[in-house]
Amino acid sequence: MDKFVVRGGNPLLGTIKVSGAKNSALPCMAAAILTEDEVILENIPQVRDIETERKLLVSMGAEVELGYGRAQHRTRIKCGILSDPVAKYEIVKTMRASSLVLGPLIARTGIARVAMPGGCAIGGRPIDLHILGLEAMGATITQDHGYLEARSPNDGKGRLKGAHIVFDKITVTGTEDLLMAAALAEGESVFENCAREPEVTDLAALLIAMGAKIEGAGTGTIRIQGVAKLHGARHRINPDRIEAGTFLIAGAITGGDLSVDSCEPKHLGALITKIEQCGVKIDVGVDKVRVRSGGDLKAADMTTEEYPGFPTDMQAQYMALATQAEGTSTVTENIFENRFMHVQELIRMGANITISGRTATVRGKSPLQSAAVMCSDLRASASLVLAALVADGETILDRVYHLDRGYEHFEEKLRGVGAQIRRMGDVFGKK
Ligand code: UD1
Repeated sequence: MDKFVVRGGNPLLGTIKVSGAKNSALPCMAAAILTEDEVILENIPQVRDIETERKLLVSMGAEVELGYGRAQHRTRIKCGILSDPVAKYEIVKTMRASSLVLGPLIARTGIARVAMPGGCAIGGRPIDLHILGLEAMGATITQDHGYLEARSPNDGKGRLKGAHIVFDKITVTGTEDLLMAAALAEGESVFENCAREPEVTDLAALLIAMGAKIEGAGTGTIRIQGVAKLHGARHRINPDRIEAGTFLIAGAITGGDLSVDSCEPKHLGALITKIEQCGVKIDVGVDKVRVRSGGDLKAADMTTEEYPGFPTDMQAQYMALATQAEGTSTVTENIFENRFMHVQELIRMGANITISGRTATVRGKSPLQSAAVMCSDLRASASLVLAALVADGETILDRVYHLDRGYEHFEEKLRGVGAQIRRMGDVFGKK
């Protein structure tokens, strides 16, 4: 298993470039299931989850070419015949977002078998709302041997029916899954209490380019007029707002001067407001954000919320920043239970953090010390790298495969702006 070795102390200076959003790319790749034509996606990040999704689509019979043509970040997908509409447990267990294929598979082939995702480091993460929504659209869903088997009406021969669905709880991939199903359903669907995340809007833009009739994506209410067939399209994936946010915090925490380029500042509103409250200077350009910090940070309370609120995917990174701010910050996690796995590791590095229920209280500023630490999930890993960038000495981060799921060339990008970070393969050669 690869490790990172990080020596803290350098302010990050210069320009760093943001890749395409993993969380847009995953549903957009799943959307290719909806047509037998070719779908070309640009700005696909080269990260582990994308490779996992490629494997998933290929295992169903699709042709997927990552790095298509001369462009490394272009992907070509053709789901001509889906001979095996099954999302196997071996793949689903490594990436919960695999459940995104449920809606498009049943809409396209009438039958889908998708392994039920198991437990997960950041809470239960059920998919009950995906299932309820598909049932409201006429699907019959049964469970056997750890798999969900979904059939469209008429024992898999008929089309799904449009439905009026009010989500009990806001769910990002749930909204995306049902949006894809509704695109090929018969009649109109109206979804209320939808996720408004930019990734939902990105997926809707692709679906519209494929011939879907969708209004209201990016708002709480989405209307879809189902069509009988979708066609191929070419679409460019949004920049990754979580990667951009992670770099903004990297600039802020190290007392640096960093221009985060090729991002979409409009998607970063809550984060920018919060780090400005911490005393960091921010200049917003058309597709870039510059962060300048003298290193004297102030505490500010933060609560995660659905978009446009502060993203839960930035909570762990913000917590690293809060350890370096003067005063007490509370960090409240509203979206997921159990998303404080990074806290124990930050404490081992010298942070002063206590947890009560969904709120962590961070007392700063704590001088951080290097230590051997363990990554527990994707964003927790990023948080530990940020802490290591200001720790005294050399921190060794184990299990960086979590980070590789969602950050493209993370250590190379950071090295390019002055961080001392290198990857170390396992001495015994094990992955
Ligand atoms: C997506 C993102 C993830 C992000 C999260 C919240 C992708 C691939 N992943 O995950 O990075 O952290 O949004 O912004 O886009 N819930 C249910 N029943 C369901 C579905 C969800 O109770 O059927 C609950 C979840 O347990 C959680 C909340 O709803 O408490 C939000 O989860 P959801 O928005 O679905 O997260 P994901 O789409 O899995």
